[in-house]
Amino acid sequence: MSWYSWWWTGSIGPRERRVEQNVENLEVKSEKQRVALVIGITGIVGNSLAEILPLPDTSGGPWKVYGVARRPKPEWAEDTPVQYIQCDVLNREETLEKISALKDVTTLFWVCWVNRQTEEQNCEDNGRMFINVLDALLPNAKSLKHICLQTGGKHYIGPAASGARNRNIQPHESPYHEELPRLPGPNFYYTLEDILFDAAKKKKRLTWSIHRPTVIFGFSPWSLMNIIGTLCVYAAICKYEGLPFKFPGSKNVWEQLVDASDAELIAEQEIWASTNPYAKNQAFNCANGDVFRWKKMWKLMAEKFELEVLAYEGEGFSLTEAMKDKSLVWDAIVKENNLCPTEFEEVGNWWFADRILNAPSENVNSMNKSKEHGFFGFRNSESSFLSWIDKMKASRIIP
Ligand SMILES: NC(=O)c1ccc[n+]([C@@H]2O[C@H](COP(=O)([O-])OP(=O)(O)OC[C@H]3O[C@@H](n4cnc5c(N)ncnc54)[C@H](OP(=O)(O)O)[C@@H]3O)[C@@H](O)[C@H]2O)c1
Repeated sequence: MSWYSWWWTGSIGPRERRVEQNVENLEVKSEKQRVALVIGITGIVGNSLAEILPLPDTSGGPWKVYGVARRPKPEWAEDTPVQYIQCDVLNREETLEKISALKDVTTLFWVCWVNRQTEEQNCEDNGRMFINVLDALLPNAKSLKHICLQTGGKHYIGPAASGARNRNIQPHESPYHEELPRLPGPNFYYTLEDILFDAAKKKKRLTWSIHRPTVIFGFSPWSLMNIIGTLCVYAAICKYEGLPFKFPGSKNVWEQLVDASDAELIAEQEIWASTNPYAKNQAFNCANGDVFRWKKMWKLMAEKFELEVLAYEGEGFSLTEAMKDKSLVWDAIVKENNLCPTEFEEVGNWWFADRILNAPSENVNSMNKSKEHGFFGFRNSESSFLSWIDKMKASRIIP
C-alpha cells in the first residue's frame, strides 16, 4: 500500500502488524469510543473487520467490537478481541433479546446474507434479518450514528438465484458506476437498500453508506462465496490425487480482463465511510482499482501448490459436478495434514466458482466516485490473491 493510500484509509494491513489485544481492551475507554456491531463476523469481510477495527491506528479506533453469527466462535479467530454473540438474526425473538442489549453501539456493519432458491425468497429472508436487527437496535442504541450496508455487483447485473436467471434480465454494461439505475425484477440488494432508507428516515441524524464489492478475495472457511478458498481446495485435491489442475471456466473468462475486491480493502472503505463526513449517505463501488486475467491467477495458484501450469485446453467443465464425490478425499487431506476440521460443503463453494469462472460478460467496476469522495485505497490483485492463499495455509485450512 502506498503512503497516500495509508494516509487516507488509516490502515496499513493488519496481517503485517497485528497487535496482541485482550478482552480487557473491549471496555469503553471514553464517551467517544466507537462501538461496532458486525453482523456476519465470521464471513469473508466480517473476518477482516474483526481484525482491523480493534487496531489502535484504525480510523476512529481502537473500536470496541461486537460480532454476530449463528455458529460459535471459530478456532481460526480465537485470538481476535471481539465480543462474540451467537444469534440467528432470522429469529426475531432471539434477535430482539440479544441485540437490544447492545446499547452502546455507534455503527452497524451489515456483512451478512442467506442464500435461497429464488430471489423472492432472498428478498424475504435477507430483508427480515435486516429488519429484525434494526428493530432491536434503533430504539435502544441511542448513540447509533451510521450503518454500513454491504451489497455488491449484482446490483448492476441482476441476481444469481436460479429463478432470477431465467428472467433474462439485461445487465448493465461494464464499467459499472454507482449512478446506474436499478434493473427490473426482485433483487435482495434493492430490498436491503429500501429498508436502510426507511431506517434513516425514522432516526434523526442516522447516516448510512452502501458498499458494492465485486468478487471478493479474502479469508473465511465459513463464507458462502469464497473464490480463493474454493480454488485452493480444488488445487489441494488435484495435488493429492495427481489430477491435472485444469481451469474449469470458459475460454472468455480465462482471457478477459476482470477485477476483484480485497476483503481488507472493503473493510477499510466501510470504516472510512463510517468516520468521514464526505462519505455519508452514499453508495460506493469497492474494487481493487486494477484488472487481471484469470490465466495469470491460475499460473500463480498452480505455482503455490507446486502443480504443473497448464494452458487452456478444450472446454470448461462444471466444478460442482467434478467435486461431487470428493468429500472423503477432502477428509483424508485434512487428517493427513493435521488441518483445522472443515466441512467439504463449506470450504468448497463450487456453484460460486462455476458462476464466476463462466461469467457471461466482462466485469469491471469504476472506482471514480469513491476516489472523488476521498477514499484512495487500492490493492494489487495479484499480491492480494497470493496473500490470501498464504493466510489459508497459515490458518491450517489447506495444506
Ligand atoms: N463473497 C463475495 O465474493 C461477494 C462479492 C460481492 C458481494 N457480496 C455480498 O456481500 C454481502 C455479504 O456477503 P459475504 O460474502 O461477505 O458473507 P459470507 O462470507 O457468506 O458470510 C456471511 C456471514 O453471515 C453470517 N450469517 C448468515 N446467516 C446468519 C443469520 N441468520 N444470523 C446470523 N448470522 C448469519 C454467517 O455466519 P453463520 O453462517 O455462522 O451464521 C457469516 O458470518 C452479501 O450481500 C453478498 O452477496 C459477496
